[in-house]
Amino acid sequence: MPRMTAFLMTCLALFPLAAAAGDSERGRDLAWQYRCMTCHGVEGRTNDPRYPRLAGQKPAYIIERLAYFQAEIEPFNEMNGHARPLTEDMKRDLAAYFSEQRL
Ligand code: HEC
Repeated sequence: MPRMTAFLMTCLALFPLAAAAGDSERGRDLAWQYRCMTCHGVEGRTNDPRYPRLAGQKPAYIIERLAYFQAEIEPFNEMNGHARPLTEDMKRDLAAYFSEQRL
């Protein structure tokens, strides 16, 4: 039994590292499914000055911005509705995908 406990403790300790990475393939599918590309451009590159580029952006920054929109701090921000349905895993996957695209 103590061995089992040690094993479980190790899994719990390692889990945040595994979860922090994000799955960029799933992120790409989500970006199409949730139409992020229509404003932010294919692979997160747009030349439209109304929309920020997401390609090459740091994952932590993307996740933080999405959390900001989810908190609805600016009630009429266009992004609030797009961020609303995203779970923690989805935010990590989207962030992984966009951060891996060339600038
Ligand atoms: C209808 C257009 C539109 C769609 C669709 C859209 N966005 Fe946005 N997005 C915007 C606009 C406009 C901003 C700038 C908002 C601001 O900074 O106040 C923005 C900002 C962002 C930012 C912050 C970027 C920065 O540099 O600060 C992130 C991250 C983001 N969007 C991710 C997404 C994701 C992920 C999706 C898909 C789930 C998505 N967006 C869908 C229009 C859109």
